[in-house]
Amino acid sequence: MTAIARTEATGGTLDPEFMQWQTSLPIDIRLLEVDCRGSIAHVRGQQNAGLLTPEEAAKMVCALESLPSRVADGSVKLPDEEDVHMAVESWLHQEIGPLASKLHAGRSRNDQVATDLKLWSRAAVAGVRQAVANTLQAAQAWSTEHGQLAMPAYTHRQVAIPILARLWIDAALTQPLRRDCALLDTVDTELSLSPLGAGAIGGTTLPLDPQFTAADLGFRGAHKNPLDAVGERDHALTLAFVCTRIGLHLARFATDVVELCADGLATLSGAVACGSSMMPHKRNPDLFELVRGHAALRQGELTALLTMFHGLGSGYHRDLQLDKQNLFAAVDGVTSCLAMIGLGLQEMTLRPQACIEALRRGDAIATDLAEALVQDGMAFRNAYQCVGRLVARQRSRDRRLVDLTAEDLVAENLPTTLLNHLDVEASAKKRGARYT
Ligand code: ARG
Repeated sequence: MTAIARTEATGGTLDPEFMQWQTSLPIDIRLLEVDCRGSIAHVRGQQNAGLLTPEEAAKMVCALESLPSRVADGSVKLPDEEDVHMAVESWLHQEIGPLASKLHAGRSRNDQVATDLKLWSRAAVAGVRQAVANTLQAAQAWSTEHGQLAMPAYTHRQVAIPILARLWIDAALTQPLRRDCALLDTVDTELSLSPLGAGAIGGTTLPLDPQFTAADLGFRGAHKNPLDAVGERDHALTLAFVCTRIGLHLARFATDVVELCADGLATLSGAVACGSSMMPHKRNPDLFELVRGHAALRQGELTALLTMFHGLGSGYHRDLQLDKQNLFAAVDGVTSCLAMIGLGLQEMTLRPQACIEALRRGDAIATDLAEALVQDGMAFRNAYQCVGRLVARQRSRDRRLVDLTAEDLVAENLPTTLLNHLDVEASAKKRGARYT
């Protein structure tokens, strides 16, 4: 490692063990592409300010433009430096010689890393948005195939009411993910101002124009305050929160699927079901359980970020170096979980007959019967008691509401027309008609 960021004033050489420990290169190497882009904008800004000749700028831009693909194809190995910013600067020295010493004029790694993170996050938000769109499409395809089937809606994990499967998938996945997607717009807004030019904390005295580099990098404008620009990571918090909330929504959906499978109402194909190393009969919903487990990781990453920021005063602090691993993990994790849920949906089918059986066995038609009596003129509370009595009678004889006969109803002084309201599928369709 070189000592680019050390002077006589810093003291002697760094302890090698500490030097190794404090390096972020293995993690922030992921910022290489955006770091080069930021540096290119900065070089153009320097040329614009008359600090570099067009020839000097062209030479630097040309080298910086070539770097990411050369690292990717293995033809360049980045110097072993403390972080990606230093590694790029150090490599530039090797590549173009002393001209590279002009690169860092008017900037600091503090505005550099803040800019990198925003550029990276901009692409990350687009990636999460696309992953959500793919999962929504899988939900739509599932709904087209299974949406008209009747299935139980549960309250307290007890069979409650017959519903159409399209309402379940819509509630369990589509609506929550759409709301999450809308939150991503907020992250985009928080990413819209460029930190470049904020320097270490107080901007620069050089005639560099932050608006110029902001436009070059596709930001809506430049930062308003250099202290804030280098010290704030609100966009990272919001993005981690969105990832956490998506994770939570996927986890809740996963629980529904695990329970539907446990109840025999849904089956997974062998493409996504796991076996047991001991029990030969198993077909387990591991995909959904892992997605649910991932939600805990998202909460951990969000909590780590919140806790990390909470002790910091304004401006840059080295703690902030550790934000990246949490943000990267949150984005990677949620993207992979969204893809897995999309895959799981393709491999999950409802078992229509088992659903109907569950509805019949669970007396899911009870509320329909009470409402039929209301339609006939009975007060709801009385109808509710009458049907409750019917359920109790039937259960005491080990029967269900759907087994009611005309004699049972006559014996309770109830109209035999109730027999027309025992069809659980018809109930699901009738209720579903309101929510198209
Ligand atoms: N590797 C550092 C980070 O990711 C770069 C900024 C270092 N700045 C500093 N003042 N030491 O945050």
